[in-house]
Amino acid sequence: MSNPQKPGAETVQTLFNRIAPVYDQFNDQLSFGLHRIWKRMAVNWSGVKSGGRALDLCCGSGDLTYLLAQQVGATGETVGVDFSAELLAIADARKSTTYSPAAIQWVEADVLNLPFEGNSFDGATMGYGLRNVVDIGQSLGEIYRVLKPGKAVAILDMHRPVQPWMERFQNWYLENQVVPAAERCGMIEEYEYIAPSLARFPQGQEQEKLAQFVGFQDAIHYLIAGGMMGCLVATK
Ligand SMILES: C[S@@+](CC[C@H](N)C(=O)[O-])C[C@H]1O[C@@H](n2cnc3c(N)ncnc32)[C@H](O)[C@@H]1O
Repeated sequence: MSNPQKPGAETVQTLFNRIAPVYDQFNDQLSFGLHRIWKRMAVNWSGVKSGGRALDLCCGSGDLTYLLAQQVGATGETVGVDFSAELLAIADARKSTTYSPAAIQWVEADVLNLPFEGNSFDGATMGYGLRNVVDIGQSLGEIYRVLKPGKAVAILDMHRPVQPWMERFQNWYLENQVVPAAERCGMIEEYEYIAPSLARFPQGQEQEKLAQFVGFQDAIHYLIAGGMMGCLVATK
């Protein structure tokens, strides 16, 4: 299911390596800190419990990974995967300041080819990653493969609102707030990439169908923030 209009994996990897120094600051600024609440919701939806083995895909600077580590506690284990070495270095450096009772392993890898055995995780999250992968079906297939039967992944990402006025607001926000803010940091090309990536991203119900197609028993997409965000919860 690769899309010819999508940038290739190397382009995306270079882009995120360049964004790395400003990534956290931008998330807080542009979501008014709300992304932290949405990430907590995703961790709850992943169903990960104390003592479990948790996986955070496209972990970036590690927000979700650290939340998963807190959820699994001292007896659990957490793995964060990303192909941006720069963002992984930032994630690892946070261990001195971010509470993490569980052992965290950072793995530099492509989420389309996960270096893990099948049926080996008790739950997973992916924050703002699925929109960026070259092949959404392959990515969902890999997540399905590594999850244990009955376990779930919570995939948080942007979404195009169903209501026209909300969609107009989202477009206005991207053009007039996000892009100018990025321009001030010399990152205009990197953040201009958000609007086209959102335009070609499958809507919630299509995401549910894609998850079911790769084998997930159950897939529900929840709308967040008036439909400007969403979380696909798929159970193996
Ligand atoms: C928008 S960031 C999200 C980071 C983090 N999950 C968060 O919510 O703050 C997207 C991340 O996906 C990673 N990524 C995109 N495609 C990937 C792939 N095929 N394999 C591994 N990482 C990928 C990028 O390097 C980047 O760190």
